[in-house]
Amino acid sequence: MKIIMLGAPGAGKGTQAKMIADKYKVPHISTGDIFRANIKDGTELGMEAKKYMDQGLLVPDELTVRILLDRVGADDCKNGYVLDGFPRTIPQAEVLDKALADRGEQIDFAIDVDVPDENIVRRMSGRRACPACGATYHTEHIPPKTEGICDRCGKELVLREDDKPETVSKRLKVYHEQTQPLIDFYSAKGVLRTVDGTQPMEKVFDSIAEILEA
Ligand code: AP5
Repeated sequence: MKIIMLGAPGAGKGTQAKMIADKYKVPHISTGDIFRANIKDGTELGMEAKKYMDQGLLVPDELTVRILLDRVGADDCKNGYVLDGFPRTIPQAEVLDKALADRGEQIDFAIDVDVPDENIVRRMSGRRACPACGATYHTEHIPPKTEGICDRCGKELVLREDDKPETVSKRLKVYHEQTQPLIDFYSAKGVLRTVDGTQPMEKVFDSIAEILEA
């Protein structure tokens, strides 16, 4: 099962992608997480990506596509995967399509987690992330058991650099200009499904499971 998660920044793609990966035993591949891990490790790729991410801009397609194609070519992706944050532009989607077609494969579902812009800024300012294991929380909706501490690994939670309100507005603008056209792209291929991302996360997941198991 090859799944793409679509949706605005903060719509809950990562939250749902992790739940899908757990239930259906497929790898969760987040280009944002790959970039953040590289930034943390101080790699050349990380330093290059950081220049764009801190401004709320997309990392250039060439760099992103190379990393993604490498990752989906790995052994653990043979039975499928859930892509979170990729593709984000039409050229990225076209490269992915071509790479899959060359292997006689295709995307099964592109799931759009639909959340209006006005909910997004509120969500992002409450998001807290674990820099060690990648778990995410929300100060109001999904609080950790102990304030500011990761339930899973005990590390101190942080506000992501790009979750500051001014950067979130920029990310939303970039989303509408460059990523939203993918909704029509996957709709034309007959694989687009839309779920209401304003529901509680378990309900959003129920809607997704219904789609995947139909
Ligand atoms: P990335 O890490 O992909 O960020 P994003 O797409 O902006 O998405 P987010 O991770 O911010 O949000 P999400 O939709 O996963 O929401 P989450 O589940 O965390 O990318 C970061 C940057 O990397 C980009 O800006 C770009 O620079 C670069 N990049 C990455 N991929 C790229 C690509 N392909 N090409 C070029 N550049 C790329 O949820 C958000 C919050 O809401 C959390 O606190 C969560 O707990 C809470 N929440 C989730 N669901 C619910 C719910 N149902 N109800 C209430 N709260 C909820």
